[in-house]
Order: sequence, then structure tokens, then C-alpha cells
Amino acid sequence: MMTSVLADGFPTRHLFDETAGQKAERLSWWTHDRFGLFIHFGLYSLPARGEWIKMQGRMSDSEYEKYFKNFDPDLFDARAWAKAAKGAGMKYAVLTAKHHDGFCLWDTKFTDYKVTNTPFGRDIVREFVEAFRAEGLRVGLYFSLLDWHHPDFTIDARHPRMPAGCRPADPSGTIGGEATWASVNAGRDMGRYRRFMKDQVGELMSNYGRIDIVWFDFTYPNDGGHGKSAADWDSEGLLRHARSLQPWIIVDNRLGLTDTADGWDFVTPEQFRVEHWPTVGGRRVPWEMCQTFSGSWGYARDEMMWKDPDELLLLLVQSVSKGGNLILNVGPTARGAFDARALGRLEAIGEWMTLNGRSVYGCTEAPASFKPPEGTVLTYNPMTRRIYVHLVVRPGSRLACDFCDQIAYAQFLHDASEVSFEVHGTRTEQKQTFYKSGCEGRAYFRIPKTALGMRLPVIEVLLKQNDAKDRTRKDN
Ligand code: GLC
Repeated sequence: MMTSVLADGFPTRHLFDETAGQKAERLSWWTHDRFGLFIHFGLYSLPARGEWIKMQGRMSDSEYEKYFKNFDPDLFDARAWAKAAKGAGMKYAVLTAKHHDGFCLWDTKFTDYKVTNTPFGRDIVREFVEAFRAEGLRVGLYFSLLDWHHPDFTIDARHPRMPAGCRPADPSGTIGGEATWASVNAGRDMGRYRRFMKDQVGELMSNYGRIDIVWFDFTYPNDGGHGKSAADWDSEGLLRHARSLQPWIIVDNRLGLTDTADGWDFVTPEQFRVEHWPTVGGRRVPWEMCQTFSGSWGYARDEMMWKDPDELLLLLVQSVSKGGNLILNVGPTARGAFDARALGRLEAIGEWMTLNGRSVYGCTEAPASFKPPEGTVLTYNPMTRRIYVHLVVRPGSRLACDFCDQIAYAQFLHDASEVSFEVHGTRTEQKQTFYKSGCEGRAYFRIPKTALGMRLPVIEVLLKQNDAKDRTRKDN
């Protein structure tokens, strides 16, 4: 058992006997690959108003039943999904094996509420893992801890059967009379539900080959005493079970094991841009931003606020520039296809990634001494020691850059055409500053007009040898 008492407030309780080096090794493909696809697919694809519709509409099981009876995604082709993801430059994908409505996309032994009992009848998880692996992508499964269908799952503040008059997720405390809650939960047994979850997780971790990621979702311990905590799920037991069957698996942080150092591998900011590399107890941790195209995870026909490819690419490079990943979601239609809006965006991202992926894969935050020139986002590849300057705002003919003294050579990434740079000042000043300190004054990239027509141009900067050391010396 590892023990380390840290002054910084990082949790010290460990569940597994794994060193920091071993953990970094386990996560190495994921921190390298940076870009994944989330897929939210299930019965909620039919009402086409997002995956929370059963809760939002306070629907009973019988009202929701029509979606089960009519689930028949005739255009479903996991290979087409995998090709679209690969074409966009994504390296892994996570599918909702089960979402909060409790519907299972695999042929589970533990409930009848599963895809193989719908008119469609095929095991979607199996087809998904096979097709994505065949395209060389890593595969992950999302598993909802909530289950609005299971008879033993106690009704809580996020459940469609929440007692009338109770408000959902009231953080201030008192919601509903306790007697009402007790009566709606009579006969429900979370112990049985925990057993059921463990059985299902065991099945997913045993019957589908190597699973690279498991994305548990989610824990809400407050909710006025009507939420669910890690103890309600037996999160520790679930995670131990998953890791005993898939020792290499990478897991998100939504089991709620926040008091442990290793009951999670990465943190999951959802639908917002992070300002800084996220920390736990003051330490930078692996992280993945999850984002939708339009606001909803499950297919939402009428949503009009779709992000355009420029915004999506910006989300990607901004994540990498702060040391994180991006998992971008598609909610396939009830026919099982990615709709034209999603496909068009994936294609546009893919065009950019084909030429510029080098600024994403294997990259991370640039050392602090490299300040981003105005209107740019920087990423850095520590192996090749190259800096990538993403021109988010078109700079005009020159772009001021205060690390030009560190540059050996610069080029546009998309076509490897040289980008020249100069130290600003008179010839004499330039000579003096150059000989004395490399580059005292400000310096500029020369931006050719031709670059202005393309989407998010990137300047790839090859640093001088030992620049990092020199730079640190200069900064001190
Ligand atoms: C939230 C939502 C859920 C979605 C998830 C994705 O937890 O409850 O619908 O699947 O975020 O991150």
C-alpha cells in the first residue's frame, strides 16, 4: 500500500497498490491521444428531446414504454460510426451502455430492459466495440449509476417518480415531507440494486474483450438528503470489480470517491471551458472536457444552437493547451445514424486534423515561460520540443511574440511552408540585442496573406536546443 503524506491537500487514501509512475503509464495512451467521441444513444433518441426526457416529463414507466416498443434503429451501422470518428481524428470512443433511464444496449442477463428485447434485437455494445476496434480506436463504456427503471433503485431528487410537490435537486436542503419519500420508497432495496450494478459491470467487463475506459455517471450526495453518495453505489466495490477484470482500464471521477487518491483517474468538467489546468488538492490532475455539439447529449431534433467547427476546434486546442482531453458527443438519431449536422462538423474537424493533428496528439500545456502571443492558443509537444501557435484571431501581417529568441525554425503546420520572424528594432539595435542576450526587444512572426484563408492556422515552432534551460536562466 502506498502511503504519502502530502502538504498540499491531495487525498492520501489509496485503494490500489499502484505507483505514480505505473499510473502515468496506464494513462499514457489516453493523455497522448487527447480526442475522443462520446455517443449517447438509447430510448431517449426517439422523443428526440435529450436523454433526461423521462425525468423532465415526469414520465411513468408505462408512458416511456412506447419508446422501448418502437426502438428499431434500422440505419445503425457501428462501422459507419467508427469511420466518422476516425475521420474526425478521434482516437477513442465511449458509448452509453446504459443511461439513467436504465435501458441497456447489450444483451444483459440481469434485466429484460435491454436492446435484444426490442424490435431491433441486436447487441449494440458488441457491434460498437468490434467496429471501433477494427478502425484502431480504443473503446470505452459509459455506465449510469442512476437507474429510473429498476424497481429497487430508491426514488430520489433526480428521479421521474419524485413525489409531487418536491423540487428537483434543491441544494438548500428541505425538499418534500419525509413521510412522502418513505412511502414512495417502501419495498425498494438499494442492497439488491448494488448487487445488480455489480453484476452488470462484471458482464460488461467480462464479455466484450478489452475495455479501455469506463465512464461511471454520476454521484449527487447532497440534494437535500435525497441524493446518492459513493456509499449508495458501493463505488469502491464497483471500481475494484471493474479493475480486477480490466486492470488497465481508465475511469472517470463520478463514482464520487473524492476522498481517495486513486478512486478516479481523471476529472470531467462538463460543458464549460476551464480557465486553468484543473487541480485536486492543489495538484494538476489528468482531465477531460466533455462537450456536446448543441447542448443535449441524447439526440435533440429541435436544438438550433449548434457550435460551428471553428468553435469545436477551439475547444479541442484550448483543452490541450491546459493539459487536457476533449470528448465530443454525438447523439445518433432514432434510426441509428449520425445526422447531417453532426457528420458535417466531424468532417470539417477531420480536414483540419489531417493537416494539423500534430498540434494535438502528444501535446500539452506549454512551459510557463512561453507566453501566448495575443489572440493565440499554445500547445507543446514535450517529446519533440515543438511549440504550436494556433492563430485564433487573424493577426494581420505581423504577430508579436516574445519568445522569438528561442526559435530555431518556424513553419505553418498544414503545409510546412516557412514562417519567418524578425527581431524588431534598427539594424544596430537588432545586432546589439541579438549578440548580448539573444532577443531583448519584441519580435515578430511575418504572417503571409495566404494563410488567412484557412481555418485555424497553426505555426509550428522548432525550438533551439536547450532552450528550456536557457529560458529558465533568463527568467530568473
Ligand atoms: C450528466 C448528465 C448526463 C450525461 C453526462 C455526460 O451527468 O446527467 O445526461 O450523460 O452528464 O457527461
